[in-house]
Amino acid sequence: MFTEENKNLIIEALSYIKRFNGKIVVVKYGGAAMIEEHLKKNFAQDIVQLQSLGMLPVIVHGGGPEVSKAMEQLGQKVSFIDGLRVTSSENLKVTEMVLSGTVNKEIIAHINTFGGKAVGVSGKDGHLIEAEKKSHEGGIDLGFVGEIKKVNSELLMVLLTQGFLPVVSPIGLGKDGVTYNINADTTASRIAVSLGAYKIIFMTDIDGVLEKGKLCAQITSNEVEKMVKNKIITGGMTPKVEACLHCVKNGVESAQIINGTEPHSLIAELFTDQGIGTKIVL
Ligand SMILES: Nc1ncnc2c1ncn2[C@@H]1O[C@H](COP(=O)(O)OP(=O)(O)OP(=O)(O)O)[C@@H](O)[C@H]1O
Ligand SMILES: [Mg+2]
Repeated sequence: MFTEENKNLIIEALSYIKRFNGKIVVVKYGGAAMIEEHLKKNFAQDIVQLQSLGMLPVIVHGGGPEVSKAMEQLGQKVSFIDGLRVTSSENLKVTEMVLSGTVNKEIIAHINTFGGKAVGVSGKDGHLIEAEKKSHEGGIDLGFVGEIKKVNSELLMVLLTQGFLPVVSPIGLGKDGVTYNINADTTASRIAVSLGAYKIIFMTDIDGVLEKGKLCAQITSNEVEKMVKNKIITGGMTPKVEACLHCVKNGVESAQIINGTEPHSLIAELFTDQGIGTKIVL
């Protein structure tokens, strides 16, 4: 039956479709959210549909669980400091292989199977991500973990204007030719700012930022800083909230963290007034 509620939802969605026409939306697709096959397919289908409605999506993916699994299979040690993967030269080879190879190409395959025109690029392609070694607090050596020096988004613009859908793996290249592993949240935020994106959405494996088990629907930059200091926000959520702040401070209108393990969560966030997850505001 076509209820009043259905009708209102469609009207709501239509106004968003109009608003997003021609707008760049960066989606950080977290490794933690891409575990199950049906979710990967849902995601690919949603992205293709969004593009057909006139939105310009750019995907930046992680792949944490896949990278850790491959490292363990090869007998390598997996270790994180403040949510960042400690990366030896041996770890780096596996990380790049899994991210720019397996994970990236799997996303491309799913999107293109649904009729999209996805193109995989790593930060090395077209000088997209110029990186250098990241120095970490307390002089901790994280190995080949990179910090982004510059994003050159021309390649992405060329792809977008020709109707392609860029899918970026978070690997950067130093001026000295050294390859760096870069946190995917940070990569997504820098790309969003460089492209002048309208919106950035982080899809992860949890409803959003939780405090004492309760979802925070909205948090301000001051609250974020306090929550990181008080260790309410830890691990992989730390670079994510920092990435959101970087975006909202640099012209991206909206930054949202949502649960990518809920089918079609991207659509629920984009096309309803209520939205879902955690919104980070200034
Ligand atoms: N306050 C918090 N609220 C919610 N999650 C938190 C919080 N503090 C830490 N976390 C952790 O952050 C995790 C999400 O980050 P994680 O890096 O694991 O995923 P991802 O970024 O989506 O994946 P990938 O790093 O592979 O791209 C959550 O699963 C949770 O364990
Ligand atoms: Mg992460």
